[in-house]
Amino acid sequence: MAQKIIIDTDPGIDDAMAILAALHSPDLEVLGLTAVFGNAVVDTCAQNALRLVELEGNDHIPVAKGCAKPLVLPLDSVGTLVHGRDGFGNTNLPEPCGKLDPRHAAQFIIDTVLAHPHEVTLMPLGPLTNIALACILEPRIIPLVKEVVLMGGSAFALGNVSPVAEANIFHDPHAAEVVFAAPWKVTMIGLDVTMKIVMTPEYLSRLYAAGTPAVRFLEHIQPCYQDFHHAIHGMGGAIHTHDPAVTAYLLAPELFYCERMPVYVETAGHCFGKTIADKYHKIFPSLNLNQGIGGEAGEVLVERPSTTIALRADEAGVLNLLFDLLTKA
Ligand code: RIB
Ligand code: CA
Repeated sequence: MAQKIIIDTDPGIDDAMAILAALHSPDLEVLGLTAVFGNAVVDTCAQNALRLVELEGNDHIPVAKGCAKPLVLPLDSVGTLVHGRDGFGNTNLPEPCGKLDPRHAAQFIIDTVLAHPHEVTLMPLGPLTNIALACILEPRIIPLVKEVVLMGGSAFALGNVSPVAEANIFHDPHAAEVVFAAPWKVTMIGLDVTMKIVMTPEYLSRLYAAGTPAVRFLEHIQPCYQDFHHAIHGMGGAIHTHDPAVTAYLLAPELFYCERMPVYVETAGHCFGKTIADKYHKIFPSLNLNQGIGGEAGEVLVERPSTTIALRADEAGVLNLLFDLLTKA
């Protein structure tokens, strides 16, 4: 039976690849796309999400617009330097035909999870603002969500928007704290693996040669993303596989090596947006029987739930899986 998923997204060029791959899989049932700010302003991301479901006749899939700014802090910036002003490589595509679902993304997530208890996997590919807001508005969904499998964070690798922080977490660390602290099943597909899964120009050329609508669309929007990767990382046309790695994980988790440990998020200071993977369980404030640290003397302090963190991946296996999905007619 196909996995029911909601893709929360800030499309976004790599989001587009992840979403089109997911739409091509018979093993994933996309119940909806929910748009969030991040790679562009939320209105642009929502319109791009509509374009993606319309590209190959999936416009029966609802698209709901969500948060335009982080939970707590003002909107600082969006990723248009990476993905273009329009989020799709400055390609100025025609307006989508469809209309957005009238609900806020958070409400769409709440309604859908309550309608399918224990069956829905949330697949966040952008800042976690919509996900956190849904939890805050309706905590009942937390035990009813099957799993959260997100692209974001960096456990033991560098960051990509600061020396320590990954973009999705950096855009809204308070929301990320809500998601990693909540008592549900979370899997983090972060920079530890996504920066090591590289699509070379040769791979992309082979992909585009398939000529399907999906790969022709990706060929059209991708150059901007390749230019960014060359400007920052000197990658000569190659790109990191961030969001599409989540699609691969959902379909073939055996391609990833993971460990479980609590994750905490820095919400201030030089390490703003850093995901701290507490491998030795040392952040947990130990309880001093004479006086509680972080709590009253004698109060039992509960360690936060562990997150499943992808630390290594079978790069060739992931790339082959994505190739097969994206080139399907
Ligand atoms: O750090 C990479 C992440 O930030 C990806 O989700 C990309 O789309 C951007 O949102
Ligand atoms: Ca994204």
